[in-house]
Amino acid sequence: MTSRAAQHDDPIARFQTLLDDAKSIPRDRLPEPTAFALGTVDERGHPSVRIVLLKAVDDRGFVFYTNYESRKGRELLGAKRAAMCFHWQPMEVQVRVEGLVETVSEAEADAYFASRARGSQIGAWASLQSQSMSSDDDLDRRVAEVEARYAGAVVPRPPHWSGFRIVPERIEFWKGMPSRLHVRNVYTRQGSGWLTERLYP
Ligand SMILES: Cc1cc2nc3c(=O)[nH]c(=O)nc-3n(C[C@H](O)[C@H](O)[C@H](O)COP(=O)(O)O)c2cc1C
Repeated sequence: MTSRAAQHDDPIARFQTLLDDAKSIPRDRLPEPTAFALGTVDERGHPSVRIVLLKAVDDRGFVFYTNYESRKGRELLGAKRAAMCFHWQPMEVQVRVEGLVETVSEAEADAYFASRARGSQIGAWASLQSQSMSSDDDLDRRVAEVEARYAGAVVPRPPHWSGFRIVPERIEFWKGMPSRLHVRNVYTRQGSGWLTERLYP
């Protein structure tokens, strides 16, 4: 039997098609189609995972934005490797990506930051992401300070807030099938192309 996967030799194009499909699903069935689990590892080899939102994807890789001084930020800058996992439940599709970590350009980060809502821009300055708060008022106080500092002015991008690009080395597409005979297609980077294989479910 020819699987649908056999028609693809470009996993990025395949991902983009699936992401478009996911975005076309009504929000009450799939509220955050760009959400994925991001796995990182610290200097002891201890893994951690959290949800972030994908903001761009092209032949260079998968881009998301965060605080470089957060736990994930420090782990990504240290290990320079990451794993991602998307789950589009209504489509019965999972996509797993593993690869190398790059930082996006200043121009790319500036452009994305400028497109964000002002409240999110203020929050990027106010939040010491992943650090311990000494009192529940800390965050509100810092938000008020940042609002006062930039009253009537454009909020610049904080130097510690930017994007990461995961440059994929391995991409796996999982499609749910009856009787758990799921289809798993793996693409492994080989030179300028991709080696493809199918795995048992
Ligand atoms: C749906 C959803 C989307 C999120 N998107 C982002 C994001 O794009 N960037 C980000 O830094 N944190 C995002 N978060 C918050 C992270 O999950 C996490 O709490 C935060 O980044 C701190 O993680 P860390 O301490 O491991 O660095 C999101 C959380 C949820 C539930």
